Amino acid sequence: MHKILMVCLGNICRSPLAEGILKSKVNKSLVFVDSAGTAAYHIGNLPDERSIDVAAKYGLDIKNQRARKFVVKDFDTFDFIYAMDKSNYQNILSLARNRVDTQKVKMILNETQPTKNLSVPDPYYGGNQGFEEVYKMLDQACNVIADNLPKSK
Ligand code: 4NP
Repeated sequence: MHKILMVCLGNICRSPLAEGILKSKVNKSLVFVDSAGTAAYHIGNLPDERSIDVAAKYGLDIKNQRARKFVVKDFDTFDFIYAMDKSNYQNILSLARNRVDTQKVKMILNETQPTKNLSVPDPYYGGNQGFEEVYKMLDQACNVIADNLPKSK
């Protein structure tokens, strides 16, 4: 089983979209996808309504997701940990115990724009348009991630 973790700050806006989008593109019997936040503010909450709505617009239901906090054990569970922005990236790395942990952590937009270390903008304080833009960026990044994962047995 390949295991992929999407991480943002609150685990209610960006990483739930990344989780839902990647799940829709992979063989679920071969790839496990989850998401988490580096902050504890929203533990147990549903995704933000604006993320639920933009996902639904593109045919994805993410209402089954509940926010959780990133934990050190996630370094053991997951093969790749995708940070949405530079701050998430630094926060995850600050918890890494060794080189193996560190090497699992990637900036998700480097999948589409390699080595640029671009951030997925935090849409929380903006309007619906921000969520639409985030969706499109994550959809493209997840196309690349999915292309590098097994498609069948
Ligand atoms: P996310 O967005 O990290 O994409 O889930 C945010 C959600 C909540 C907050 C900030 C960003 N907040 O400050 O509560």
